[in-house]
This record gives sequence, C-alpha cells and structure tokens, in this order.
Amino acid sequence: MGRRKLVELQKASKVYKILGGQEFWALRDVSLEVYEKEFVSIMGPSGHGKTTLMNLIGLLDKPTYGKVILDGVDTAKLDDVQLSKLRNEKIGFVFQQYNLINRLNVLENIEIPLILRGVSKKERVEIVRKAIELVGGEEIWFTKKPNQLSGGQQQRVSIARAIIGDPQLILADEPTGNLDTASSKIIMQTFMRLNDSGKTIIAVTHNPEVASCTRRVLYIRDGSIIKEEVPDPSKCVFK
Ligand SMILES: Nc1ncnc2c1ncn2[C@@H]1O[C@H](COP(=O)(O)OP(=O)(O)OP(=O)(O)O)[C@@H](O)[C@H]1O
Ligand SMILES: [Mg+2]
Repeated sequence: MGRRKLVELQKASKVYKILGGQEFWALRDVSLEVYEKEFVSIMGPSGHGKTTLMNLIGLLDKPTYGKVILDGVDTAKLDDVQLSKLRNEKIGFVFQQYNLINRLNVLENIEIPLILRGVSKKERVEIVRKAIELVGGEEIWFTKKPNQLSGGQQQRVSIARAIIGDPQLILADEPTGNLDTASSKIIMQTFMRLNDSGKTIIAVTHNPEVASCTRRVLYIRDGSIIKEEVPDPSKCVFK
C-alpha cells in the first residue's frame, strides 16, 4: 500500500545521567514506524519508557542517540523554532490530567491555537462549535470553566483542543487513566471516530480494553519494544 509513513524512529535511545555519573537508558534502540490513519496503542509497566517515547514522537524531547523522522522530516536538523512550528502543525496532544486552564472558559481553552493563527473571533466560534460537536460535547459548555465539568467532559474538551488546528497526528498519554468505564467508552468512541475520519492516533494506556480497540499494540519493557500485536476488532468492548 502506498500509505504515508507519518512517524519513524530509527534506533532512538534516551539516556539520562543519574547520580554518581551513571547512565540510565530510559529508551534503548527503539525503532518503529507509524503510518497515516493508524491507531496504535502503547502498553507497558510504569516507569518503562512510555511517556519518554511519546515525548520523542511529539518533538517535546530529543533522543540521545538515533533519529525521529516526522512526515519525512529528519527532526534532528531543525532548530527550536522549526521544531515547534512542525509540532503545532502536525500534532495534537491529549494528557491524562486534561491540562486545561481553569482560569479560562471552555471556548477560550479550545480557541487558543486559532488566536495564534490569527483567525477572527467569529470564525473561531464556528470552528470550536464544530470541534465540540465532533467530540460529542455541547455548546452550553462554552462559558463554563473546566472544573465545572466532569472528568470525562473535560477530557472531551481537551480532545477538541487537540484537534482544533486539524493535526494529522494525535498523541494521547493515558487519556482514560483518570476515568471510569463509562467515560472511557465515550473517549474511546471519540478516538475511533476521529481515526475513521483519517486521524492517526498513538495512545499510551494501562487498560487492555482500551488497547484492544486500537489497530496495533506495541508492548514496551525496560525501554525497548518487546512485541507487537494486532487485536481482533470484534473484541473491542467500547464499540
Ligand atoms: N529527567 C530524568 N532523569 C532521570 N530519569 C528519568 C528522567 N525522566 C524519566 N526518567 C526515568 O525514565 C524511566 C521512564 O519514564 P517514563 O515516564 O517514560 O515511564 P512511563 O512508562 O511513562 O511510566 P508511567 O506508566 O508511570 O507513566 C523511569 O524509570 C523514569 O524514572
Ligand atoms: Mg507515563
């Protein structure tokens, strides 16, 4: 198939210097390829390198050794300004703790990237309205502060914020980590819908039910990818 390789890691390692001058390899020689329109999950025990890996893919951190190639661009060649431009263009982030700004209302939280792009107020409201609809939210949320919404609702707002700039790639680090089963289901249905509409998604999860609804699962252990599985889609309990 002629599908585009959106993410490529070539023997990427992340090495921290720890006390006593010793080295700690948070990631060791990780090579992976993620193609456009894939939905990949990453599983593994706590402290084994999942967030470190996501930070490399999301251009929030650089590998000590190896390469991170995003949509054909070798990111080692970019300076910080070019890196953040590429990141803002291509990637939307969703975090376990939602990371919304409680001082701002929902509309203001979601429209920030549009303000940075110089979109007019009228257009911004229109675009945010569509994003909120896409994640199954309601317009009455617009004037609420994030902490006036439930965890599941806040996570939907954070997904709306992640997709507002129309990124090709969504990176989610334990997006259902703080949610009960009912809310997890809504979040997963949202991701599956976004994936059906063409978004590439990479999600870290501790929940096997979440992983079973993705199209490919990577298992990480001690900083290395040790195996890969393709779940049976009929086993997804969140459909
Ligand atoms: N700045 C740092 N200096 C030294 N070690 C670090 C640093 N950042 C992370 N680590 C170590 O790297 C390892 C991987 O951390 P990481 O956050 O990627 O784990 P994780 O798989 O996301 O865990 P969790 O499931 O708990 O979120 C951990 O052992 C952590 O202690
Ligand atoms: Mg983590």
